[in-house]
Amino acid sequence: MDEVQVGAGGATDFARWTGEFEAKVVARAAAGDPDWARGARLDPAVARSVQRFQVGESGDGANLIGKADRAGDPVYSAAVRLFIAEERNHARLLGLLLRAGGQPTLSGHWTDAVFVRLRRALGLRVELMVLMLAEVVALRYYRALRDGTTDALTTQVAGLILADEQRHVPFHCQRLRVAFAASSRPARLFAVAVWWVLMVGVTAVVAVDHGPALRQFGVRRADFGRGVFGLFAVIVPSAIPLRDPVRIA
Ligand SMILES: [Fe+2]
Ligand SMILES: [Fe+2]
Repeated sequence: MDEVQVGAGGATDFARWTGEFEAKVVARAAAGDPDWARGARLDPAVARSVQRFQVGESGDGANLIGKADRAGDPVYSAAVRLFIAEERNHARLLGLLLRAGGQPTLSGHWTDAVFVRLRRALGLRVELMVLMLAEVVALRYYRALRDGTTDALTTQVAGLILADEQRHVPFHCQRLRVAFAASSRPARLFAVAVWWVLMVGVTAVVAVDHGPALRQFGVRRADFGRGVFGLFAVIVPSAIPLRDPVRIA
């Protein structure tokens, strides 16, 4: 798979991730922002779609940080803070892209409100499973945005965000492996089944909601769904292994 490396094993050491997130902070500062002054030409359907993703990226993450803190691993907590900072940066980049295209940001969207409510109601393990649904959709979406637009600034911003999302997935996979290490095989099977049902539902909503933009990118809804499911099929066994006993390093 060329889009995401999910990692393997059940390592409990998250220092690798704090290192990677911090290195990215330094690299971002050195590279600077895209040249917003050159402006962006955003098709109306694409602008509406980007506005919704901008809302989704802009959560404050306090809820996830609280759960990570209660899990009792300060290195993981530090990595989660860096992860959330990176998501906030995505919201900032998309906001500036919209501004470069003369479009406002939204104050909210119902899909995000449902998502946030669902995540808040749950513990860390299920919150990460729900969060992963958004991460996988994002992987396919930002690739479509990067490759499907003719606007250079949009391509650049989508590429920057996509590179980050490709790191987020293995980060969550590693924490989920830890979270499921003590679970029985039937419990894992149940989790996998529910996870797939949710993934299918979320993908259908996104494919319908963002259908006009996807069409602009030359991506049919069914192809978008196939792409998401193909990624998820690799991610699920990495996050919740069913066959091999989970090794905790
Ligand atoms: Fe993001
Ligand atoms: Fe992400």
